[in-house]
Amino acid sequence: MTVHRDHSLKSFNTFGVEARAAHFATAENLDTLKSLLQTFSKDSITILGGGSNILLTQDLPGLTLHIGLKGISIVEEDDLQVLLEVQAGEQWHDLVLFCLDHNYGGIENLALIPGQVGTAPIQNIGAYGVEIKDVLDSCVGLHKTSLDLKTFDLEDCAFGYRDSVFKQSLKGQYLITSVRLRLRKKNHVLKTNYGAIAQVLKDDGITDPNIQDVAKAVIDIRQSKLPDPKQLGNSGSFFKNPVIAQNQFDDFRVQQPAAPFFEMGQGYYKIPAGWLIEQAGFKGYRQGDAGVHEHQALVLVNHGTATGQEIWALAQNIQQRIKEVFGITLEPEVNLF
Ligand code: EPU
Repeated sequence: MTVHRDHSLKSFNTFGVEARAAHFATAENLDTLKSLLQTFSKDSITILGGGSNILLTQDLPGLTLHIGLKGISIVEEDDLQVLLEVQAGEQWHDLVLFCLDHNYGGIENLALIPGQVGTAPIQNIGAYGVEIKDVLDSCVGLHKTSLDLKTFDLEDCAFGYRDSVFKQSLKGQYLITSVRLRLRKKNHVLKTNYGAIAQVLKDDGITDPNIQDVAKAVIDIRQSKLPDPKQLGNSGSFFKNPVIAQNQFDDFRVQQPAAPFFEMGQGYYKIPAGWLIEQAGFKGYRQGDAGVHEHQALVLVNHGTATGQEIWALAQNIQQRIKEVFGITLEPEVNLF
């Protein structure tokens, strides 16, 4: 195991901003992980998965720990289902491709989401009507101080929209080491009614789609709207879609009758933040090298040499404006450091 000092994190965050880690190490197995956790104090450790959902606004003191645990294995299977165990350091999209190759269905709508498998349950990744909670059987977490391994079943994870127990009451306490997913081998249940999937399939002349067709449609849609972090630094959606209660929604509808919305039940409504940001005139806007993507206003981008602080300044500017215009508070979806 090598611990690097004063290590650049530019290639470890998909925004591609420069920030330095006082100490940096990659843990490729559980023993290394435990010994690093013993060496450094818990409060000075930053866990880094794929770096695809973070904004670094400063250099990081202590240890930045990159999770490099690899492996995909079958725990059990029958004719209909398979239970896969996937180590935290696998790339999420590589897992999706593995499943498509083996005809395991359930995560095809989550194709092309950047990041590693271990961070997927933390924010309950989701796209096109599917969230990881829909297929998750359990995950294993390593406690940062006691070094005990604990299995969290679906209920323990307390999943919500881009939310879980690991962002709430257990925030910062556990590091996910592996995830178990229950996937189908046949009789696939396709979700094609969300967003443009059905339209793309129709345009491609596909009337009886399989999971590979759905994944291809998702990939086409994402590539047409979302910038590739390798070409233009970004962390996907920068903000969560705000959820507002009935009273506020009624006023909002009167003022913005054309606004899209999603009814969540129990008197709550989700409003697309991308729509709000576009209406406020920010689509394609730039503040130096920090910008708002020209095709999807929910995505902030680094046009080259923006710092994390500059991107955060743009984000705050947007938050303030949305509050003034619509009276709605936008919360970041990315994690700020
Ligand atoms: N919209 C605009 N202008 C924009 C962007 C969106 O008017 O610039 C409108 C669209 O026309 C549509 C609505 O907003 O009516 C929703 O847009 P879209 O379907 O693109 O989805 P989103 O709400 O912007 C969410 C997730 C994405 C996920 C997509 C597809 C969040 C914060 N984001 O985006 O997740 O890929 O749905 O399911 O929930 C991510 O988390 O990083 C991410 C990319």
